[in-house]
Amino acid sequence: MDLIIKNGTIITAADTYTADIAVKDGKIHMIAASLDAPEGVEVVDAAGKYVLPGAIDAHTHLEMPFGGTTSADSYEAGTRAAACGGVTTVFDFVIQGKGKGLIESVEARKALCEPQACVDYAFHTAITDLRPEVLEELEKSVEYGVPSFKVFMVYKKEGLMVDDGVLAAALEKARDIGALVSVHAENPDLIDRRIEKFLGEGKTSAWYHYESRPEFVEAEAVKRAIHWAKAFDAPLNIVHLACKEGLDEVTKARDEGYQITAETCPQYLYFNKDVYKREDGRNWVCSPPMKGQDSQDALWEGIKRGDITTVATDHCPFQSYEKDWGKDDFTKIPNGCMGIENLYPYMLSEANKGRISFNKAVEVCSYNVAKLYGCAPEKGTIAAGSDADIVIYDPNMSFVVSKDNMHSDVDYTIWEGVEMTGYPVMTFSRGKLVFKDGEFVGEAGWGQFVKRKGNK
Ligand code: URP
Ligand code: ZN
Ligand code: ZN
Ligand code: ZN
Repeated sequence: MDLIIKNGTIITAADTYTADIAVKDGKIHMIAASLDAPEGVEVVDAAGKYVLPGAIDAHTHLEMPFGGTTSADSYEAGTRAAACGGVTTVFDFVIQGKGKGLIESVEARKALCEPQACVDYAFHTAITDLRPEVLEELEKSVEYGVPSFKVFMVYKKEGLMVDDGVLAAALEKARDIGALVSVHAENPDLIDRRIEKFLGEGKTSAWYHYESRPEFVEAEAVKRAIHWAKAFDAPLNIVHLACKEGLDEVTKARDEGYQITAETCPQYLYFNKDVYKREDGRNWVCSPPMKGQDSQDALWEGIKRGDITTVATDHCPFQSYEKDWGKDDFTKIPNGCMGIENLYPYMLSEANKGRISFNKAVEVCSYNVAKLYGCAPEKGTIAAGSDADIVIYDPNMSFVVSKDNMHSDVDYTIWEGVEMTGYPVMTFSRGKLVFKDGEFVGEAGWGQFVKRKGNK
């Protein structure tokens, strides 16, 4: 044995109980009511603390070329911040290069990530160029360990958008090979028309980012994507879902028995559209934007009901000087917010305050994520045989988020001043301590590629 965690309250998606955990070679070796540590084995006393599976942030954009620049957290900074927020697996989006294959695109990003990763990592691939040979390559990608793909219904000028034909073809193929398609659902034509109108009227503040992509713009695309998924009886995952009307469609499809899943993000659960009225509203500009309070309330209800299956961050931060490009024109603001270090503390804090159970927080931030994306039971739970990705959480600690106690490379945080009730005090990545009492203690290059399974 390498490590024993004693006396903690273990919380998984299904159970809450007190027991000791023995870790050996990066795996959970044994769980028992009481374990004695042999000479020389490190013991962590977790009395009064909760022992949780590490979170899995299934939605990040690290050092991604986007919005005329590159997102501000490198793989090292992003995965370091992840470790400090109790996230032990980070999923990044590979953007398929135009004219390039899927696997070569993944391998290029993997080479960049490998020496930097402080925790384990996996990739989804965003399909931008679905040539016939690429359609065939989807199956090879599943075998390679990347069985999930993203399709953007927006971002025409960025070269990421695909049309409904591509979405439908991807869904149909993915169904046959046990892969999963996720969509970024907003209606690009509506957005373009509204932007043109607002700019023509001299309406250029961050508020008009929201006004150019309000609830109905997202809802239409969610409904359209679900329509295609139903038509082909294919699984579909809606990422960064932010509106009630879209969620209602997800709920309806799930009730009808379709394999529709939905992810929302902590920023939609905490902030609403009023942030865009702030002087520094551009810092909250992401797509889809935060919506009205009724949508936020509905998202929480969707989590409680189980229709929102996962919560992930869409971590895609930019420095304040980059956000400032859009001071006088909201269309020049790079789209994206930070949250990789806030996801788990925030969801656990809401559990601690009684909004959801701790089991539910673990379910949506870890267990369901591992199951949906094909890395269970290695990830997502605390059980003998699973990876020793473990967070020790102090439910009695108070923590106020500030850019100075965050570990990313960004010069501000939208979470500044937010109070958390309870906070992680230790994070273990495959048995290695990577975060302790507010400090990163891991190392770049430790994280490993998580080869995932498809659904066939
Ligand atoms: O504004 C966002 N969400 N930026 C990241 C790219 C995306 O749409 O996921
Ligand atoms: Zn043994
Ligand atoms: Zn997106
Ligand atoms: Zn995203």
